[in-house]
Amino acid sequence: MEDMKSSTSVYDVFTPTTPAKVSFIERDEVNEKLVDALRTPGTQLVVYGYSGSGKSTLLRNKLRQLYEHEVTTRCTSASSFDQLMLSAFDDLDGYYISELQEKNTSSISASAKNTIASIRTELSATASFSSENLAKKTRILPPQLTAQNLAKLMGEANCCWVLEDFHKIEESERTKLSQTMKVFMDMADDYKTVKVIAVGAVDSARQVVQYDPEMRTRIAEIHVPLMEPHELQSIINLGTKILKIAFSPSLTNKISHYANGLPAICHTICLNVCQQNGIYEEVNTLVNLTDAELEPALEKYLSNSSDTLKMAFEASLKQVRKGKYDHPKLIIHALAQLSQDGATKDEILRKINKVEPTYTSRSFSGGIEKLCKAQRTPLIRLDENSGKYSFIDPLYRSFALALNSDEPKTSFDVNIQTLIENVIFKIRELQ
Ligand SMILES: Nc1ncnc2c1ncn2[C@@H]1O[C@H](COP(=O)(O)OP(=O)(O)O)[C@@H](O)[C@H]1O
Ligand SMILES: [Mg+2]
Repeated sequence: MEDMKSSTSVYDVFTPTTPAKVSFIERDEVNEKLVDALRTPGTQLVVYGYSGSGKSTLLRNKLRQLYEHEVTTRCTSASSFDQLMLSAFDDLDGYYISELQEKNTSSISASAKNTIASIRTELSATASFSSENLAKKTRILPPQLTAQNLAKLMGEANCCWVLEDFHKIEESERTKLSQTMKVFMDMADDYKTVKVIAVGAVDSARQVVQYDPEMRTRIAEIHVPLMEPHELQSIINLGTKILKIAFSPSLTNKISHYANGLPAICHTICLNVCQQNGIYEEVNTLVNLTDAELEPALEKYLSNSSDTLKMAFEASLKQVRKGKYDHPKLIIHALAQLSQDGATKDEILRKINKVEPTYTSRSFSGGIEKLCKAQRTPLIRLDENSGKYSFIDPLYRSFALALNSDEPKTSFDVNIQTLIENVIFKIRELQ
């Protein structure tokens, strides 16, 4: 039987700000490790990697394949662990309520029902208490809402607990996760699916959660790397196929090159290409798009990001100059010319020494520190594992490259319009 499917919207295909669904591509490098860890009862997960590398998307798609439900709790710098527990409970409570209404209640044990009820009662009691003081309406964690009980309720619902952006919460609060993981590990005997998945945009699993050495074998640390060009090209090929349009191989190549490992940039540029051609949904007759599309698509993307870029560069470049060298400028220029994956201190130093032969290792250390820290918008970060420095956003590197080309040596003011023009100029040269 033919189903009358309405045509797919471009916004479901190119998803720069939400997890990809129809244009989701499998990540062979991490897939097996992730799926094994999700399937193994008792194994807890720490998923880490560069912001925008595709952690949430990968997890969402794999969980959809393997789990009935999941509880996702988002963390902010202000979150306390108690609040995360409460928020997870609210989600579970909602699930149990709808489950009780919709299906046979027998699938939920009496003990789970009791636990839910008692926590609910406690919560409403403390809520009415604290509403007297509206200014400070923080909910108190009921004594029954323990990690054990949370694990039990999740277990009965066949779900797991995803903590998104866990690296954001304060360190003192983060330590509580390792205790909770321990409890969840021990509950796996009774509930096979129960587990915690902590996700963090950092360089190592330990920066997400510090756990005891004895837990090591039961925690899977899963690194989601930036995407390879061929992966970005797969997104483009899949997306355009769904929309029944075609990007020339050269256009596809250039977009994947420019996206610099970040799928979000790839989605954005593709979406811009579609929009500028009036393509908002799957088309009836094949549309062929070529190289000429790149420039306007990129320009739109860059002008939309110009404020962020301006802030990031100005903060770094306008630092008060002390001594002989303009450290930020030297370092940024050198790093931009090195590999996209970043470069070690020695590599950067060698590059700088080509223009400033007397620039020492000590000067470098002082200069790089300022670029990595101390500002609200740092440009560069250090990956402790590999010892490599890289631009926080690949876009910064493209900008730095553009800065490098034409900017007169004396003035180093950031003129966004010039930068955009320069980047586009560079892209044109990239044949
Ligand atoms: N496997 C994938 N296939 C297609 N698009 C992806 C994939 N992974 C990520 N994306 C896209 O990349 C962007 C960033 O992904 P996201 O999962 O939010 O990254 P992270 O959670 O690591 O910050 C989103 O626009 C998403 O749609
Ligand atoms: Mg995410």
